[in-house]
Parts: sequence; structure tokens; C-alpha cells
Amino acid sequence: MVRVAVMGASGYAGAELVRILAQHPGVSISVLTSRQFSGKPVDSLYPSFTGHVDACFEDSSAENVKDRSDVVFLALPHKKSMAVAPDLIRAGIRVIDLSADFRFRSAETYERAYQPHSAKDLLKEAVYGLSELYRDRIGSARLVGNPGCYPTSVLLPLVPLLRHQLVDPGTLVADAKSGVSGAGRSLSQTTHFPDVNESFKPYKVTEHRHNPEMDEVLSNETGDRVHITFVPHLVPMTRGMQTTLYARLSDQAGMEEIAACLQETYSGCPFIRLRADGTIPDVLHVRGTNYCDIGWRVDAESRMAVLVSAIDNLVKGAAGQAVQNMNLMLGMDETSGLTTVPFPL
Ligand SMILES: NC(=O)c1ccc[n+]([C@@H]2O[C@H](COP(=O)([O-])OP(=O)(O)OC[C@H]3O[C@@H](n4cnc5c(N)ncnc54)[C@H](OP(=O)(O)O)[C@@H]3O)[C@@H](O)[C@H]2O)c1
Repeated sequence: MVRVAVMGASGYAGAELVRILAQHPGVSISVLTSRQFSGKPVDSLYPSFTGHVDACFEDSSAENVKDRSDVVFLALPHKKSMAVAPDLIRAGIRVIDLSADFRFRSAETYERAYQPHSAKDLLKEAVYGLSELYRDRIGSARLVGNPGCYPTSVLLPLVPLLRHQLVDPGTLVADAKSGVSGAGRSLSQTTHFPDVNESFKPYKVTEHRHNPEMDEVLSNETGDRVHITFVPHLVPMTRGMQTTLYARLSDQAGMEEIAACLQETYSGCPFIRLRADGTIPDVLHVRGTNYCDIGWRVDAESRMAVLVSAIDNLVKGAAGQAVQNMNLMLGMDETSGLTTVPFPL
């Protein structure tokens, strides 16, 4: 059994990792850390785990985790991950970081969006963990920077079209909506029930930190500087992320070309469900699962492609993709621990 630890296991992404790892046939959970809840049973914070997770939270020191783990998931806030990752890597542990700390190739871009980076050397070897598109590199990685939830929902539909030059990279727009768990477990006014319930609003318009992350990947893919106009919205639901993408089609492209491109790219990818029948994905149909559902239409008059993706922000957008990456890194079946059948409603 592979011994896995989750640092930051009391948070929303960490708890989702616990849920998935508890039903993974190839791993045993070794350490679950939390500063606030150290010493307390995990099921006292998350009663749904009663009968499934018989462990207590432990303190957050890397020493404690290092000696008892083969793989460590960092479900910590950014800046905290880069403080512990180098030590773990030096100890021969494979690390999957859910924060933004190891998502960027360019330290300068990271520092412009976040803060000074204290482990820049590791950026060179860290692999961007968008499982379906970078699986070969993920397989041999010591350190994976798991993508942000919004970038996952944007890049999975869009990158194949750019690789096949079906859309004009100068015309990209993403209009995305997230459930409130995307903001994490800490209390804040903006995620307070009366401020969110019955509400629906855009936020951080043109200035969300996931924008430079998407731009870097899109630019690396095309070899030119690419920028996507990105507008995130907060929706009064707990989990789920729905993204609508707009891009001008190149001359020869239409519905059939988009279908062929996505089908070729994602053939053999168990977590990508293409809605080739023209139906439009719905967050309800991917809830609690690692699926990314993708649908598309063409507006013939404007020659715009419209693509829609739906993911669960906590699963394909965080913990599920992180476990998928672990499976790839360890040579396990990619779907291990992730084969939940979605709720019908
Ligand atoms: N929520 C999502 O949908 C989502 C999606 C993709 C990626 N992510 C990323 O995943 C990471 C965790 O996000 P989250 O939403 O789960 O946040 P969260 O609910 O706020 O959880 C943060 C976790 O980190 C621990 N923590 C906080 N400050 C710490 C510190 N200074 N030192 C050590 N531990 C600390 C917290 O526990 P204690 O305070 O008890 O130590 C908690 O376990 C973030 O980097 C986030 O960007 C989240």
C-alpha cells in the first residue's frame, strides 16, 4: 500500500481528498494535518466520515509527515505550500500541490499575481497537472502543480482547438460560474449566506489570479503570447463550476471539425465526457465526480464557437484531479478511487 498524507486536510479541498482516498484501493492514509483541529477525530469535523475515516488530525510539521509517507498532497493556502514542498522533495517524497505555488513556469508571472516565490528552483521541474493534456510528464514527475479549478474548466475544452488551429487565439472569452466552496472553508463576508443566497454576481472581473495561469498555458501551447478575457461569477450553490467559452472559428472550422478534434484528443480519457449530441453540460450531472463534461455549438452568423464545460470544482477542479495525477505518477489505473457514479439529480 502506498502511504499518503494530506496537509490541510480540514479544508474543503483537503476533506475532499480524504473522501476520495478513503475509498482508493491502492493507498492507505498515513497523516492528515490541521493546525486548528490537531488531536481531534476527523469525523468530529466532518460527521459524514463516521464509519469510513478512523483518524485524528495531527500537527502540520513536515517532519511528522515526512517519515510516514510516500506521497503528500498539499491542500494548503498558496505561500504555505512552497514553504514545505522543498523539504518533502529532498526526502524523496512525491508531492502534489493544490495551491498555485507550483503551477507557473515563470516565477515572474507567479510573483506578479501572488507574492515572492521562495522555491523558484522547483518551478523548473514542477509539472502542470492537467491530467489529460500532460499525462506523460505527470507520470515521471516528483512535483505536480495541480491546476486551478477555473483553468481546468477553461483549458480542457480550449487547448485541443488551439492545437488544431480551429479558433483564433486573439478572440478568446471565458464566462465562468463557481459554487461557493471554491472560496474555501474560512469565513468571509463575501461568502456569508445572506450575501450569497438569492444572489448571482461577477467578481474580480479581468483581475482574477487564475487569468495569468490560463494565459501562461495557452501561450506555451501556441508559442505566442495569448490572453483570454476571463469573467468569474459566484453562484449560490455549494459545489460545481460551469464555464462558457467563446472564440472565433478559423475559416474551415465548424461543428464537425470541433467534434473530431475533441474526440481525437480525448479518446481513451475516462473522465472527459463529450456531449457530441449537441446537449449542453450541467453541473448537476458531474456533482461529486471527476468528470469534465464538454458540449459545443457554432453560431453560424458570427462564426463564433461556443463551448460549455461542467466540472465539480472540488473534484476535477481540485482533489479528484490531484488523485488522478497520483495514479498517473504511481503507474496505477488512472480511475482508481474515482469511479463514483454521479447522482441522477
Ligand atoms: N476550494 C476549491 O474549490 C479549490 C479548487 C482548486 C484548488 N484549491 C486550492 O486548494 C488549497 C486549499 O483550498 P481550500 O479551498 O480547501 O481552503 P480551506 O478550506 O481554507 O483550507 C485550507 C487548509 O489549510 C490549512 N491551513 C490554513 N493556513 C495554514 C497555514 N498557515 N499553515 C498550515 N496550514 C494552514 C487549514 O487548516 P488549519 O487552519 O486548521 O491548519 C485547512 O486545512 C488552496 O491553495 C486552494 O487555492 C481549492
